[in-house]
Amino acid sequence: MTTTTMNNLAMTEEVAETTPQNTAAPTETCGVPFVENPRMTARNVFVNYENGSKSAITDVSLDIGEKEVLAMIGPSGCGKSTFLRCLNRMNDTIPGCQVSGDIILDGEDIYHRDTEIVELRSQVGMVFQRPNPFPKSVYDNVAYGPRIHGLVDGKDELDALVEQSLTRAGLWNEVKDRLDQPATGLSGGQQQRLCIARTIAVAPEVILMDEPCSALDPIATGIIEELIADLKKNFSIVIVTHSMQQAARVSDRTAYFHLGNLVEVNSTQKVFNDPEHKLTSDYINGRFG
Ligand SMILES: Nc1ncnc2c1ncn2[C@@H]1O[C@H](COP(=O)(O)OP(=O)(O)OP(=O)(O)O)[C@@H](O)[C@H]1O
Ligand SMILES: [Mg+2]
Repeated sequence: MTTTTMNNLAMTEEVAETTPQNTAAPTETCGVPFVENPRMTARNVFVNYENGSKSAITDVSLDIGEKEVLAMIGPSGCGKSTFLRCLNRMNDTIPGCQVSGDIILDGEDIYHRDTEIVELRSQVGMVFQRPNPFPKSVYDNVAYGPRIHGLVDGKDELDALVEQSLTRAGLWNEVKDRLDQPATGLSGGQQQRLCIARTIAVAPEVILMDEPCSALDPIATGIIEELIADLKKNFSIVIVTHSMQQAARVSDRTAYFHLGNLVEVNSTQKVFNDPEHKLTSDYINGRFG
């Protein structure tokens, strides 16, 4: 293609839209933030802390697809955890934190005043950076949710659900002989898988994971990543990670945040190989953050 032709093409909207090095301020999200048949949708979400004096998330709209892994990446402080916490109303527990916009799960506004928070958090479960098992036995950690939600009828059913959840979390063989021992006696990687077992025991629709491997060694990380690949057959997973390699390995779509803005969302393949926005490209290439 000659330079003249390229210049002419550059004048057309079609080419302007696919220009790889978009340098505009991130007022609008690049890429494809929406999917067909989303499991969860967020529209025009704003989050402030300190009763409005500190803005953390600005006008974020995004879908979470069914049976997909969505990675959220971006420099420290850009709002990844804040946005993740909006999805199961964990921000409600932070005094002075204000959330606005629409977040819909199965057609229902999760911020509606009639929403049952305990129920919501079983539908949208969360796994944290540091494994946080309850100070109870391995068995009781997993049995806790099904018991309080009345999901099982009798001890045999509960036993079966505990075994099934631990098996799906890839932990059963390691703990089947120590179910009555304190969960705090497990290794960090085992504790994180126990927390995943605890989350999936209540049959959530979406699992939120905030840097679930950052406290783990590479072997435990590999086990969790394999587990994520398996879990996505049944659940939608949103994972915040600082590891670009991890995002590339485990996710189907990737969302890049910068200073509270959602700069770009697309298939992971596209975001990592051909980002539309310069901010994304700089971050992916290690020039920022
Ligand atoms: N409880 C809080 N009170 C006040 N400000 C907060 C609170 N939590 C987060 N923030 C601020 O909101 C912004 C976004 O923080 P957030 O923790 O969501 O970022 P992050 O992308 O998860 O960062 P990291 O990668 O370091 O975990 C930051 O400026 C942070 O200081
Ligand atoms: Mg965070």
